[in-house]
Amino acid sequence: MQTLHVDLGERSYPIYIGDGLLARPELLTRHVAGRQVAVVTNETVAPLYLEALMRSLEGFRVASVVLPDGEAFKNWETLQLIFDGLLKARHDRRTTVIALGGGVIGDMAGFAAACYQRGVDFIQVPTTLLSQVDSSVGGKTGINHPLGKNMVGAFYQPKAVLIDTASLHTLPQRELSAGLAEVIKYGLICDEPFLAWLEENMAALRALDGAALTYAIERSCAAKARVVGADERESGVRATLNLGHTFGHAIETEQGYGVWLHGEAVAAGTVMALEMSHRLGWLSVADRDRGVRLLQSAGLPVVPPQDMSPEQFLEHMAVDKKVLDGQLRLVLLKRLGEAVVTADYPREILDATLRTDYAALAQSFNS
Ligand SMILES: NC(=O)c1ccc[n+]([C@@H]2O[C@H](COP(=O)([O-])OP(=O)(O)OC[C@H]3O[C@@H](n4cnc5c(N)ncnc54)[C@H](O)[C@@H]3O)[C@@H](O)[C@H]2O)c1
Ligand SMILES: [Zn+2]
Repeated sequence: MQTLHVDLGERSYPIYIGDGLLARPELLTRHVAGRQVAVVTNETVAPLYLEALMRSLEGFRVASVVLPDGEAFKNWETLQLIFDGLLKARHDRRTTVIALGGGVIGDMAGFAAACYQRGVDFIQVPTTLLSQVDSSVGGKTGINHPLGKNMVGAFYQPKAVLIDTASLHTLPQRELSAGLAEVIKYGLICDEPFLAWLEENMAALRALDGAALTYAIERSCAAKARVVGADERESGVRATLNLGHTFGHAIETEQGYGVWLHGEAVAAGTVMALEMSHRLGWLSVADRDRGVRLLQSAGLPVVPPQDMSPEQFLEHMAVDKKVLDGQLRLVLLKRLGEAVVTADYPREILDATLRTDYAALAQSFNS
């Protein structure tokens, strides 16, 4: 088992990473202050892991709240079901909420914990690769509004994050690849040597090799913990975690949520950010292609939807949260392993990036 620490003063917490950690009750129970625990999960994850988690919590008064599965349920109505469950089971201010599931459950359970009786303890047990390397660390919680994704929420840090890599054995391949998009992101924005490790070990990761997964998750969480430790509320460097996301969100929104998985849209968006960084003279052709190949080797799409016009991209990107004072800020790469957030680029370069023939670019690798 590996233990990392997110360093946020009195809000600091450990991240435990390893194979089979759900069967280690002490890792959870040492972070439970009272006698009450509320496990929040969904209909897909409950049959797989709820019983194992309950066994770890013997001796506590445990209530479970099982929500419907999907991004479409990340809303007020579903959030209310968590409060219903907590109140019906008479949970008081000393209860601990445990999120068991992917990023949707983690974001919702975390927000519920931030609000219930003005804030109760919270533990993350993420079960998708994406939630293990990204959403469970850093304290962003929230729900969607019909007018925008993640528009209602709170910064609320967990007391601990427990990552059992064994839970990835039941995850669909497509979801695993989507998580790898965020893993690759850390290499691109702040950890160049990690890119070479990923190139060597991509096959092992996709075959769910426990040691490889633990290492990749640890290195990803360490990167995220560093960035969050330096900028908890995203006033600066934390925004670099959005590499590929501004282009990616445009794809997600245009195609309709759920058609492209978030990580898939981020992968295609990252290819666009690599291309733009190349056009700005920051990345060589070889560096750009190295990034694209790595994404491709993770089983991710590297060509944005071909029916999406530059105008459609710009329209969606204009409402992105990264627009400040009307200037569209983008995360770009000065070099592999170093990201910048900037609104200072020639407009023609953005236009040319949006007009690039990515299918031809991808084709050149396969021929
Ligand atoms: N808070 C943050 O910093 C942050 C960062 C990135 C993403 N997010 C949010 O995370 C969400 C996406 O998270 P996600 O990719 O984990 O999606 P998800 O939570 O929808 O999970 C994907 C699917 O896998 C299922 N699943 C979960 N664990 C499983 C397992 N072990 N075996 C089989 N199936 C399993 C889920 O039920 C779901 O159907 C989005 O809502 C996004 O906004 C938040
Ligand atoms: Zn993301």
